[in-house]
Amino acid sequence: MCGIVGYVGDKESAPILVSGLKRLEYRGYDSAGLAVLHRNQLNVVRATGKLRNLENRVVAEPPKGTIGIGHTRWATHGRPSDENAHPHTYEGVAVVHNGIIENHLELKATLKGRGHAFSSETDSEVFAHLISEELKRGLELPKAVRAAITHVKGTYALAVVAENDPEHIVCTKDASPMVLGLSEGQNFVASDVPALLEHTRDVIFLEEGDLAVLSAAKAEVFDRQGRPVNRPIRRIDWTPMMAEKGGHKHFMHKEIHEQPRAIADTLRGRVLRTQGDVHLEGFNLEPEVVKGLTKVTMLACGTSWHSGLAGKLMIESLARLPVEVELASEFRYRDPIVEKSHLAIAISQSGETADTLAALKEAKARGARTMAVCNVIGSAMTREADFTVLTNAGPEIGVASTKAFTTQLVALYMLAVKLGRMRGTLSLEAAQKHLTYLTEVPKMVEDVLRCEPEVKKVARAYLGARDFLFLGRGPMHSVALEGALKLKEISYIHAEGYAGGEMKHGPIALIDETLPVVVIAPKEPKVAYEKILGNIEEVRARGGKVIAIIDEGDQHVPGLADAVIRIPSAPALLAPVVATIPLQLLAYHVADMRGNDVDQPRNLAKSVTVE
Ligand code: M6R
Repeated sequence: MCGIVGYVGDKESAPILVSGLKRLEYRGYDSAGLAVLHRNQLNVVRATGKLRNLENRVVAEPPKGTIGIGHTRWATHGRPSDENAHPHTYEGVAVVHNGIIENHLELKATLKGRGHAFSSETDSEVFAHLISEELKRGLELPKAVRAAITHVKGTYALAVVAENDPEHIVCTKDASPMVLGLSEGQNFVASDVPALLEHTRDVIFLEEGDLAVLSAAKAEVFDRQGRPVNRPIRRIDWTPMMAEKGGHKHFMHKEIHEQPRAIADTLRGRVLRTQGDVHLEGFNLEPEVVKGLTKVTMLACGTSWHSGLAGKLMIESLARLPVEVELASEFRYRDPIVEKSHLAIAISQSGETADTLAALKEAKARGARTMAVCNVIGSAMTREADFTVLTNAGPEIGVASTKAFTTQLVALYMLAVKLGRMRGTLSLEAAQKHLTYLTEVPKMVEDVLRCEPEVKKVARAYLGARDFLFLGRGPMHSVALEGALKLKEISYIHAEGYAGGEMKHGPIALIDETLPVVVIAPKEPKVAYEKILGNIEEVRARGGKVIAIIDEGDQHVPGLADAVIRIPSAPALLAPVVATIPLQLLAYHVADMRGNDVDQPRNLAKSVTVE
């Protein structure tokens, strides 16, 4: 999500840090900063907005020192501001952090009780405080960092410098990436390879729980137990462009494969399984307001609208609350019925889509309570809504939305459980069951990604098709729409998504032996499965080609289909998360094989900020 760079050597570190941060600029961020050590004194420079703002400050007053750490921030806890930008410091300790600390509120409360004053809204700042306490107890910096992280629940890639140890950078990671760059008389650390490539191509990828101590002369790595380890040195021959994409050919492909991690980040610290509850920071609807809600209105465009359609089924089923899913671009041009007892939910990756923002404002002006499900903290919708549930998917660069969609689904499912508990429509046991399902989703998504070779074969077989039809029933209707949208926006093949039951009301006329029909047919819910089998027969009878997305255990459909792609069985309401992945891959490979610009398809913009 955020970017980290660290340098120790014999050169002035500030320009090296800024230039490393520039290599991470393609991902977008909201603030940046660096901390440089000179003669046991920390010098910190931070700036909100573009990296140019930080660079201007560094150029105006260059901080001296040959050791330092830098950071570009993509906010998750606390709005973008100079105070919330990293590095965070406390009593001579400076830290930069990527990841999420789940128990930061408890840690902050405990530390405040011991007299600590905090200067930011971030979760990351607690690291500086915890480490400074350990240093005061007389531990050396590496041991102080090791001791500090034992208090933390969550994910981190962390780099630390301290005034009492001006020769070392200490870094450690768990679940967030971190890589060391090795060179004669100087060493580097970064969250991502592109930040290192102009200096060295010899790198060590740290493993979970590793802690590294870098000086100008050497880089030592210790495992979780504190034992010295020799991690392999790898020679990176990626071009800078390849490095930005983490070795993937396109950002979209990288982002598809990031989904297990992105979903885990969306769930992190929120699922309170034992209590049968969900902790959604900022959720500010009082219990009596939730009980009194008479309608939820989802407002969204494009892919986010599709997640609203799936979210409708979740909320109606678990919280027994009627939900309408509105195209934001239409909502504001009619005279919608909005009441004080309605909750309007704007769903958006960017938080800047003009139509969704206008619809949100309209709903608010007409008296609804408002919330945003959004991936970008500080964006216009997060500022406009009464409260926000962040999707924490990390920056999405490919124009075709992938991880934003699946994390929205997971966020909406958590919301459905929360509303269900508050409205008394979900028992403790039922909520616990749903929360257990949720925690299994990242692994399921990891498993479903293994279908890629099969999907590629299908892509090759049908990339010349003129049209595609996607069919799904129940929760799979939204998946059919999303599969069709994904395919058309990047492959430029005309595609329609339909609810299976609607096929005979029109699209059946399109079916002949040239038409591939993607049928999304998981076994749950049973009633939808049984009905979609009928659709498969109808397509076959007219010579259409059936590409079936089916559960791994399905023995029946393979005998009826021209191609099958198997996915792990998932509970019905969560199955859209799993079933969408092969369709993202299908769109990706068809577009790539047709030689299209996958990440920047023609005529489309990542964020549609105009009407
Ligand atoms: O940023 P938003 O989620 O508000 O964007 C909405 C749509 O513009 C977006 O989902 C669009 O449809 C994507 N290109 C789909 O891949």
